[in-house]
Amino acid sequence: MMVASFGQSLRDYADKLGLLVGAAVNPSRFSEEAYASTLAREFNMLEPENVMKWTAIRPNEQTFNFKPGDQVVSFAQAHRMKVRGHCLMWHNHNPLWLATGTFTPDDLSKLLQEHITTVMKHYAGQVFAWDVVNEAFNASGGFEKSIWYDSPGVGLNGKGTAFLEQAFRWARAADPKALLFYNDYSAEGLNAKSDAIYAMVKDFKSRGVPIDGIGLQAHVFDLSTKEISSMNANITRLTALGVQVHITEMDVGLAVDATGRLANEADLVKQAEIYRSVAATCVQQRRCTALQTWGFTDQYSWIPGFTKGAKGMALPFDQSYAPKPAYNALREVLQQRLRDIERHQ
Ligand code: XIL
Repeated sequence: MMVASFGQSLRDYADKLGLLVGAAVNPSRFSEEAYASTLAREFNMLEPENVMKWTAIRPNEQTFNFKPGDQVVSFAQAHRMKVRGHCLMWHNHNPLWLATGTFTPDDLSKLLQEHITTVMKHYAGQVFAWDVVNEAFNASGGFEKSIWYDSPGVGLNGKGTAFLEQAFRWARAADPKALLFYNDYSAEGLNAKSDAIYAMVKDFKSRGVPIDGIGLQAHVFDLSTKEISSMNANITRLTALGVQVHITEMDVGLAVDATGRLANEADLVKQAEIYRSVAATCVQQRRCTALQTWGFTDQYSWIPGFTKGAKGMALPFDQSYAPKPAYNALREVLQQRLRDIERHQ
């Protein structure tokens, strides 16, 4: 049987290293045996891919639906895993009632505070870290257009990061024990967006605004690895400010043909090398404390939908839950790290 050939899992190594290895999950799949057993065997952290977002958790202004999120927490507790919460403030994927409703900045401010407070209190002691803010910066280092910022915003339009500061302060008050993260994409390496994030963290730290970590999503689309070549330098400068870093949403989309089949077989090796290099960068950084993929099996991944069928096969396990070269690369990195540490003891 396949399972017997795995030997030590990612999780076995990660537990020994004190590292979190996670996957984004959809609780409606927990009833699939292969889905559940692979998760429990390979990961020590879960993050709900969608069910803690506003769209799922707040179907209308008066109702909170915690059920699917609670299922993620129960699964995690049954398998001694941590849960990362995602996300409390985002300009994207908001429910229609919120995105198209007529609200004054004062209404929105109250709604956001109430949302952060209610959700974080519900999951206090169960969710150890939250993406409080998701994707607020654009590629130039300015702000994305957002109901929380400028359209109409929570009343802090034009006041720089004040709207983000407000969210972090509400989050700390709601659950003082949770780690508070800012999470974004295309900010893995050094560029205008990661400069803006760095400047925000520096400013927040200097003024005592609560922030504990930065999530680097690491959705990789370019096999030449442009996105990640300066990731080490970025993690070094961020962690020097006293925050931790989590790799939060890694996947590496590969070109596929119209039937969804891999276009170039050799891309599996390139993909593995990208996983290897991101993982190696993280494990060598003391304050890079979590490495997570956005899903874990090619059976369920947002990449084919997001790229309109151009890319797929982005994750470490194939559609039948068999490990790919990417999986082996991740495991080798963890194994090697453990050997290095043991040798130096
Ligand atoms: C994506 C999910 O994977 C999709 O299922 C959903 O339709 C849209 O959101 N950055 C994030 C994630 O922070 O929340 C996004 O997840 C992927 C990009």
